Amino acid sequence: MRLELLSLQDFRNYERVSLELSPGLNIFVGDNAQGKTNLLEAIYVLSLSKSYRAARDQDLIRHGSLGAVVTGRVRKLAALELGFALSHTDKKRLLVNGKTTTANRFMGNLTTVLFSPDSLQLVKGAPSDRRRFLDIQICQIDSVYRQTLLEYQRVVRQRNSLLKAAQEDRGQLSQLPAWDKQLVHLGTQVMLRRRAVIESLQSYTRALHREISQEKEELELIYQPFFAQGDLAVELSCGQSEQELKAIFRQELARLRREEIRRGCTLAGPQRDDFLFVVNGLDLKKFGSQGQQRSAVLACILAELELMHAETGEYPVVLLDDVMSELDQNRRLQLLSLLNDKAQTIVTTTSLASFSPEMMQRAAVYKIQQGRIA
Ligand SMILES: Nc1ncnc2c1ncn2[C@@H]1O[C@H](COP(=O)(O)OP(=O)(O)OP(=O)(O)O)[C@@H](O)[C@H]1O
Ligand SMILES: [Mg+2]
Repeated sequence: MRLELLSLQDFRNYERVSLELSPGLNIFVGDNAQGKTNLLEAIYVLSLSKSYRAARDQDLIRHGSLGAVVTGRVRKLAALELGFALSHTDKKRLLVNGKTTTANRFMGNLTTVLFSPDSLQLVKGAPSDRRRFLDIQICQIDSVYRQTLLEYQRVVRQRNSLLKAAQEDRGQLSQLPAWDKQLVHLGTQVMLRRRAVIESLQSYTRALHREISQEKEELELIYQPFFAQGDLAVELSCGQSEQELKAIFRQELARLRREEIRRGCTLAGPQRDDFLFVVNGLDLKKFGSQGQQRSAVLACILAELELMHAETGEYPVVLLDDVMSELDQNRRLQLLSLLNDKAQTIVTTTSLASFSPEMMQRAAVYKIQQGRIA
């Protein structure tokens, strides 16, 4: 899959820009604060219908403008026009081939994998960072998962309101069993899909990581459902059937019931899931060196690419935001050679010095300066 054309109007610091992208390597070079990340963010909103770094959609509108528009032409077998339009007065509009559509139908048309300096936090960061990584990936390839996750999140919110209301009025608790049933049903679907995706990711990370670490290390990804955290994680997290997962979920709800009412929030469920990176039997979050953690993240992101290819038949567009300067020479070369022209790649950088002459030769290079691209 590739993005052939991209245009931005009043998006972040861009007034009006239209560009044609090369199907291979695209390098955007510019000083700090010129619009490099903003450009990748624009591609990202075409992929996922919202930004990964704006607190509100409206922040994406160029200061002083009424609205922002991003459009892109995606080439798979046929061409597809995607549009994203915001204004201060109306609701956000998402368009596929000129027709307004829902976020669920919009997502999945342009698949992307983003690698930024923040991604390097994947191993060390909070469980929520890892859940987000997983969910973004699964949501791009599975519309049923998107729907299930949204419904699950709605059930959690409503169940939380009920728990809060029950602090004042115990009578409210009579409604809890109905919510629990939905929570367990939807939550188990979420867990099953996450577990399956981690298993497939792992089939790629193994080989990739061996290559990145030059055969020295074995990387394993281990799913940690909410009930299997801490030292028991590994023993508890493998292989339960759907029925078994549901039974554990119900047991945990019963065990945590009083605490849930006291705190007014849902304590059991995949909103508390996590996964571990284990190298040669050690948890990298606790025991990994910074270099090992970076190699693991790199393997994981490259695995994401392979997984998306396997599931959709197309490689996603790869967005690399300023990561060249964050990686040492060795990992930089590995990243680019493992990408190996499989996927359209859009890289931003403050300096072209990170790229070999051979790479520069086959890349399309653009200069970004104050929201203008040349
Ligand atoms: N809604 C907006 N309207 C106008 N300008 C904005 C808006 N949002 C952000 N900007 C500006 O866009 C500029 C460029 O931001 P961007 O994050 O793309 O920089 P960058 O080139 O990635 O820089 P760095 O190398 O430091 O990461 C910033 O100066 C920021 O103030
Ligand atoms: Mg930036």
